[in-house]
Amino acid sequence: MASAASDERPLALIVLAAGKGTRLATTEDAPPKVLVSCLGAPLLEHVYRAVAPLQAATTVVVTGHQSERVDTWLDASWPGVVKVLQQPQNGTGHALRLALDAIPAFEGDVLVVYGDVPQILTSDLEGLLRAHREAGAHASLLTGIVQDAGSLGRIVRDAEGRFEAIVEAKDAVGRPDILAIGEFNTGIYAFRSEAVRPAVVDLSRDNAQGEEYATDALTRIAAQAPVVAVPSDDPHSLMGVNTLVDLADTTSVIRRRITSQLMADGVTIVDPDTTIIELDVHIERGARVEPFSYIQRGCRVAAGAVVGPFARLRGGATLEAKAEVGNFVEVKKSVLGAGAKAKHLAYLGDATVGAKANVGCGTITANYDGTSKHRTEIGASARIGSGTVLVAPVSIGEGAVTGANSTVLAGRDVPPGSTAVGVPARVLESSRNEDQANAQEGSAD
Ligand code: UD1
Ligand code: MG
Repeated sequence: MASAASDERPLALIVLAAGKGTRLATTEDAPPKVLVSCLGAPLLEHVYRAVAPLQAATTVVVTGHQSERVDTWLDASWPGVVKVLQQPQNGTGHALRLALDAIPAFEGDVLVVYGDVPQILTSDLEGLLRAHREAGAHASLLTGIVQDAGSLGRIVRDAEGRFEAIVEAKDAVGRPDILAIGEFNTGIYAFRSEAVRPAVVDLSRDNAQGEEYATDALTRIAAQAPVVAVPSDDPHSLMGVNTLVDLADTTSVIRRRITSQLMADGVTIVDPDTTIIELDVHIERGARVEPFSYIQRGCRVAAGAVVGPFARLRGGATLEAKAEVGNFVEVKKSVLGAGAKAKHLAYLGDATVGAKANVGCGTITANYDGTSKHRTEIGASARIGSGTVLVAPVSIGEGAVTGANSTVLAGRDVPPGSTAVGVPARVLESSRNEDQANAQEGSAD
């Protein structure tokens, strides 16, 4: 957390989120770039999570392309921000000027973050602010150093290594000396408000993109006052998302952070390279995730539970202690009780599976009637035979058994301890009063 020491100047945060994301928008109805999803959350939410701990006094978000969609997301997920509409989108410098105009009375430090840098960490932002304040700089920026900075803006330093200018790659065509620079602009800046306000007035649009560049504000300030360019420790993780390749690279960085944290917390992840775990998945110490598994946002996995290989958990699915979900099993909005198993080829949607129940290979909860979703209840220690179709709403009692390939129709509940077979399934009379233990014997592993 940033300490709010009394000698610190107040902090305003500006997030630029108006761009279309032309290179990501592959369909007519594509979301604006900042709402493109990455591991269960829009890019903008990743930025939000990084900046929230800074507790800025004021936050301004500039929207433009499909602003209604971005505003809807902001209202639901980032309330209290000042929303500024940028129409048309004349560049990052234009967006920054409009944002500053929206907080005319603000005096202090202004932290600017581009909305397409979802990998940014709170610690990077804190480091930048600290360097900015300690140096008494008028402007500071976070940079990265890589072999090939591609389409990003290059950092030009003078003979003494002091920041001089940012040159966009598109404006450096025919300048191999500039393009060879590996230090790039991350789009994350800290300014003194009194330095940045005049620096964004009358920005030139005489450049390759015909836009007002926020980067020119830094170049301008550097001509008269100190500007500190702080290289990040982890440059790869600060490259913005412009293309589908960038999006995949970014996803991979964040995915790896999530799995590394889980492993540090005692979760066995056999192969993090083939495991996708989204944000906000809660997995307890002692659980195990086998390769090629995909666990979506909001799911829960308790200690001793096993996921995969080749399993998919979604819609807040929950595996209680020692539950097991194996290959080609999809679990949606369902709870598997302690020790319950669904080890092969199954779909469990809107279901509750009791403790120690066994869901046989090929079982399907037919949860959707074309209009509504319905629930399936499977009691503790029940055994669902291979290839059973459970047409919801339906309930299978504790210790009950369904025969292989049976189809249990909606509302035709199978009583506890009994056995149902066939299509449609009928409960065997002889089984109605049998000892429950009978139904529990054996395992379909
Ligand atoms: C920008 C920087 C570049 C830097 C890179 C880092 C400029 C001129 N260039 O290039 O130096 O290396 O980011 O990722 O700033 N946006 C608006 N309004 C606009 C245009 C953009 O709000 O009119 C927002 C976008 O939504 C996006 C961010 O600003 O979140 C950056 O815009 P983008 O077009 O991606 O700039 P880059 O080409 O990546
Ligand atoms: Mg960008």
